[in-house]
Amino acid sequence: MSPDPARPAAEVLADLRALRGADAPTRGGRTFAYVYDPALPGLDELAAAAYAEFATVNGLDMTVFPSVARLENDLVGAAAALLGAPGTQGTFTSGGTESILLAVKTARDHARATRGVTGPQLLLPATAHAAFHKAAGYLGLETVFVPVDPVTFRADTDALAAAITDRTVLTVASAPSYPHGVIDPVAEIAAASAARGVLCHVDACIGGWLLPYLRRAGRPVPAFDLTVPGVTSLSVDLHKYGYADKGASVVLYRDAELRRHQYFAHAGWPGYPVVNPTVQGTKSAGLLAQAWAVLQYVGEDGYTALAAGVADASDRLLAGLRDTEGVEVLGDPSAGLVSFTLPAGLSLLLHLADELRERGWYLQPQLSHGELPANLHLTLTPATVDRVDALLADLREALKAARSLPPVTVDPGVLDLAAALDPATLGPEEVAAVLAFAGLTGTGGLPARMAPVLVLLDALPAPLQERLLAEFVGSIFRI
Ligand SMILES: Cc1ncc(COP(=O)(O)O)c(C=O)c1O
Repeated sequence: MSPDPARPAAEVLADLRALRGADAPTRGGRTFAYVYDPALPGLDELAAAAYAEFATVNGLDMTVFPSVARLENDLVGAAAALLGAPGTQGTFTSGGTESILLAVKTARDHARATRGVTGPQLLLPATAHAAFHKAAGYLGLETVFVPVDPVTFRADTDALAAAITDRTVLTVASAPSYPHGVIDPVAEIAAASAARGVLCHVDACIGGWLLPYLRRAGRPVPAFDLTVPGVTSLSVDLHKYGYADKGASVVLYRDAELRRHQYFAHAGWPGYPVVNPTVQGTKSAGLLAQAWAVLQYVGEDGYTALAAGVADASDRLLAGLRDTEGVEVLGDPSAGLVSFTLPAGLSLLLHLADELRERGWYLQPQLSHGELPANLHLTLTPATVDRVDALLADLREALKAARSLPPVTVDPGVLDLAAALDPATLGPEEVAAVLAFAGLTGTGGLPARMAPVLVLLDALPAPLQERLLAEFVGSIFRI
């Protein structure tokens, strides 16, 4: 891409639109991960217009751009009213990962200041989102993780309580967890943490803007927010079931004294005095403005109606899946997320995902973890409500087609070889050779069928998978 000669806007935009052609559709209810489509007329246009109004405003300095403070106070206030308790304070962030990074940093710094903890541990159920591992990696915490119940997929409070040490700075409960969509026993985990003087974070990134409205729509929802004794922080993404465009989340704390540890301030350089509540310095206020606009456009009754639609889709999908021979729904999903496995085996499951993709549906493959089986994950949104019957019909057809395909197997010789490889010392040629064997080369694009790649990955140890996947993504971003 060359910036010269300059090109007319219409041509540039036409190029951008053409690039979208190969992407999965973000609207229309056929993509069951990554995207949240409320199917609300006018919403996308409003979000884009609100972004454009504030695109050039720098959220770095709210004393120069006071609109930023007004928008953020309104937005965090709305989150606190929905999920907080008296005294709750928070911050608008760019997404779930940033909210989690900040909550972990806050807990680390709080424990250092108040308990003198210098070798901090982060205590996680196995189903906690990968963002916590990323936070621990970035911020120098040791992760300790405890298994979840293999039938309910919920965190095991006793195991978690037993794993708390004098170095534990934060425990985590998900409401719900991403892999299986089940809500952890938040009240028990929070109580066990409080009993040891340890902070407890509720990851409501995906459920925080859905569960309260499900409750308002008459569905049973256990208490999971900052009103639960012992819960000290909570993350909720507006770019998920808040239906804002991507780049919008909130992290909440029980009080200002805790939130204080999140802020970074620096006066020891010759430039302007720096106070950054979040990871970013300069940031566009456009994302804040679009989230603010979306929240008001949808409104309380709107969110309640959208939540009822998601619950309806979920009920019908679960009933259809449980009625399909050979399919096993995992756990008792609470809110919008559904995962199922095929006890007949991984190869059939992944053939099914490929067959569904050929029929225009994207379901997200999740690989096995210890005794937790590989599965296909669906995030349901209001746009999927009218799609459930068509999906179930195609799923049964696709399953039939998948059963007629030869199973994908992994050569035991390859596994022996893989077991002998040390991911830390692999050279670029060795990595490239394994990737090519798996059918993954960035330059050649992804293979049309992913089953052979994923069956092999699933059989490899996690550290080797991580090395290969990072290398593969590096080969896609090749410059
Ligand atoms: C429970 C949970 N936590 C954290 C995240 C990470 O959020 P993000 O992708 O916005 O960084 C997700 C994303 O799906 C999630 O479902």
